[in-house]
Amino acid sequence: MGKRLENKVAIITGGASGIGEETARLFAEHGARGVVIADIQEQKGQKVAESIGSQRCIFIKCDVSDEEQVKSLVESTIKIYGQLDIMFSNAGIASAGKQDILDLDLNACEKLFSINVHGTIACVKHAGRVMVENGTKGSIICTTSVVAGVGAPPALIDYVMSKHAVLGLVRCASKGLGQYGIRVNSVAPGPVATPLTCDAFGKSTEEIEKYFEPDFILKGKENLKANHIANAVLFLASDDSVSVTGHNLSVDGGYVPFIKWLPRN
Ligand SMILES: NC(=O)c1ccc[n+]([C@@H]2O[C@H](COP(=O)([O-])OP(=O)(O)OC[C@H]3O[C@@H](n4cnc5c(N)ncnc54)[C@H](O)[C@@H]3O)[C@@H](O)[C@H]2O)c1
Repeated sequence: MGKRLENKVAIITGGASGIGEETARLFAEHGARGVVIADIQEQKGQKVAESIGSQRCIFIKCDVSDEEQVKSLVESTIKIYGQLDIMFSNAGIASAGKQDILDLDLNACEKLFSINVHGTIACVKHAGRVMVENGTKGSIICTTSVVAGVGAPPALIDYVMSKHAVLGLVRCASKGLGQYGIRVNSVAPGPVATPLTCDAFGKSTEEIEKYFEPDFILKGKENLKANHIANAVLFLASDDSVSVTGHNLSVDGGYVPFIKWLPRN
């Protein structure tokens, strides 16, 4: 298969680990001439960028919950590479422990929202602005989750709400930016054994894979992995999806529990 991102420039938030890291590697393999890894994990981010190669990948420290840092990230990318074609707004955190309705810790909820929701809004807004200013018909992709729009696991309320919010953002922003030829989509991963999931469940990669395995509809395949999500992001980032916008692409092997939790009306 040919290279699908030849000469493109991309920002990947949360690119130091998990899904973001896999996507950074895949974008570089597919000919992107600039991949900017934006993350709060400086050492890890630098290491990933170095392993991809300083010719085409750099790390910029950025806390997405701070709009000024996101604005500066986008400006630095333009200064360095002269353009921005792809924004993959992917940084996110999980609920801090059990967040059910009776025990919900609103401070923890606020922190989660500042990253998962406000951070994503800032990325879409500032990427959208430079794409409009420069006349770039770019592609913006956000990471939702299989819980977005359909899921209702009762003890992850703030996380579930944040991903519903990101889905709402994608749908609205795809309309606002569509008039400029800019596409806005999201990828909705099922459970993948990344540091986020392993830490949240207090389990190893192998334990996480075993734990979720029975609930995938799709049997006889390898477990859902970060590179499966990255492949879907590549599709949404590339011209292969030139007419796709406002879409939330599930990559979940048909994960069953969230289907059971569908709202009844
Ligand atoms: N792993 C899963 O099962 C799963 C399922 C559905 C959705 N997701 C979503 O996928 C995205 C990526 O998660 P992952 O599973 O690869 O986890 P991960 O922990 O491997 O990666 C998340 C990255 O985001 C970074 N990050 C956290 N807060 C940040 C901030 N304020 N500013 C910048 N970067 C920040 C972390 O440092 C980390 O490198 C998240 O949005 C997550 O909600 C994951």
